[in-house]
Amino acid sequence: MRLDVFLLASLPSALGMQLAYSPPPALMAKVAAQDDCVLPGTYEVRDFAGKSNDTGSTLASFDFKFVDPATKLETSCHFNETSVSGSPSALAPRYPCEHGEVKFIWEADKTKLWMIERVCPGPDGYDDPFNPATYLQKADFEVSGSLLLPVTCAPEGSCGTNSTLHTSKFTSLQPVRDPTI
Ligand SMILES: *[C@@H]1O[C@H](CO)[C@@H](O)[C@H](O)[C@H]1NC(C)=O
Ligand SMILES: *[C@@H]1O[C@H](CO)[C@@H](O)[C@H](O)[C@H]1NC(C)=O
Ligand SMILES: *[C@@H]1O[C@H](CO)[C@@H](O)[C@H](O)[C@H]1NC(C)=O
Repeated sequence: MRLDVFLLASLPSALGMQLAYSPPPALMAKVAAQDDCVLPGTYEVRDFAGKSNDTGSTLASFDFKFVDPATKLETSCHFNETSVSGSPSALAPRYPCEHGEVKFIWEADKTKLWMIERVCPGPDGYDDPFNPATYLQKADFEVSGSLLLPVTCAPEGSCGTNSTLHTSKFTSLQPVRDPTI
């Protein structure tokens, strides 16, 4: 195989995935060199279900599953009255999913769900996302994207969307802005 063909084959676009953001060249070099450095193009929100206490104008709680087909990361996410955002106060509140690499932002008035995933861990020792002691300095970048969920609620307060599967694109790549779990 020619070298340029080989290099192309390791990029997401060669797998039929167009990235909606532009990675810096240094990061692309890391993608080519490092097996665990994968830049995802899309993500899935599955089985979104919630509850409303005010006949559907806001969701008091909800749960969903996040799936990233490229990085193979899957995790469950929850929002309820005990949810606490540990993100820096300059940022919109980000709520952690069960896997520490993934967080979400909920814009209640628009039923807009933002997903943020830290990607491409460095050789500087990333190992256990559930262990704060070994967590900090790890991934250098986060990708994010958003999705408008068509949420509807039944009169008794259970809420859902019109599909068990919603797919959206990551549209932004930034240096990690929130290193907390
Ligand atoms: C919604 O109702 C549940 C059950 O009565 C209660 O635990 C929860 O605190 C309420 N949430 C809000 C945001 O009012
Ligand atoms: C409420 O949300 C937290 C995370 O914010 C989660 O750990 C907990 O399991 C949720 N509770 C329920 C009853 O789903
Ligand atoms: C769900 O609703 C949205 C917004 O109304 C619409 O664009 C989408 O096609 C619907 N999906 C399904 C599977 O019906």
